[in-house]
Amino acid sequence: MIKIKNIHKTFDDMEILKNINFDVEEGTFLSLIGPSGCGKSTLINIIAGLEKATSGQVTVDDAEVKGTHTDRIMVFQNAALFPWLNVYDNITFGLKNICKNPDEIREKTEDILRKVHLSKFKNYYPYQLSGGMKQRVSIARSLVMNPRILLMDEPFSALDEQTRMLLHDELQQIWMETKKTIIFVTHNIREAVKLSNRVIIMGTRPGRIVDDIKIELSYPRQVADPNLTYMEEKIYKILKVEIEKVAREELGDEYSIKENSLSRDYNNTMGGGI
Ligand SMILES: Nc1ncnc2c1ncn2[C@@H]1O[C@H](COP(=O)(O)OP(=O)(O)O)[C@@H](O)[C@H]1O
Ligand SMILES: [Mg+2]
Repeated sequence: MIKIKNIHKTFDDMEILKNINFDVEEGTFLSLIGPSGCGKSTLINIIAGLEKATSGQVTVDDAEVKGTHTDRIMVFQNAALFPWLNVYDNITFGLKNICKNPDEIREKTEDILRKVHLSKFKNYYPYQLSGGMKQRVSIARSLVMNPRILLMDEPFSALDEQTRMLLHDELQQIWMETKKTIIFVTHNIREAVKLSNRVIIMGTRPGRIVDDIKIELSYPRQVADPNLTYMEEKIYKILKVEIEKVAREELGDEYSIKENSLSRDYNNTMGGGI
């Protein structure tokens, strides 16, 4: 169980996160969604132990998070692979620090390569890979460490739509098989609804929790499922208030979102335009 207790974060006197409180049960696929700048990355970095909260506490099974740990591994938007190492060696790089048995390293790596469908590409170097393949390596490199918690900060937002959908299916499959706790940051509503069984909606200025929604639909989920569309609309309505607030601050008081223009954009981009 992860417990996020009374997290506050300020940067240069600016209140970034205010009074963040929630618990995450083992095996949850949780999405954190909110407008750009609302503090999603700051929050996930605090959970990862990469950043310190100004006050408050994160605990994992009652142990306070005081820094990074191989129990909690982060996958970033940019895969950041080592360019001089091939796929196989990129995946084993971290594993070699925690596992000294060569047979075990090989077994674990081959297994993970199969899971992310990269067995045929294990000798390729990062420059020979597409964006989607690089992100698969990044996920594999994290999973091979067998963390209890996988933290993902907009891992697919730099990918084209088709690749993103493929990776959704793969991640969904991996989660169904491993039942790892996943905390997944996104600003894409459809992605959040398709993948997760719980969505925490964040508002902005200061970053805070506005809603916490369960998505009780069975897996594997199909993107065309009308129940998903229903949930997307529900979340969109809640988020719209926050998006409008940011737009007014940035564009002036007279600004208001035109119902049609935004929903059209939202449909075309899978909610990526918020
Ligand atoms: N190291 C930092 N120093 C000062 N301000 C920061 C720093 N990191 C983030 N911020 C500010 O905190 C706010 C939230 O940022 P971030 O967590 O990256 O939001 P999100 O991931 O939701 O887009 C933004 O206004 C950003 O400018
Ligand atoms: Mg971010």
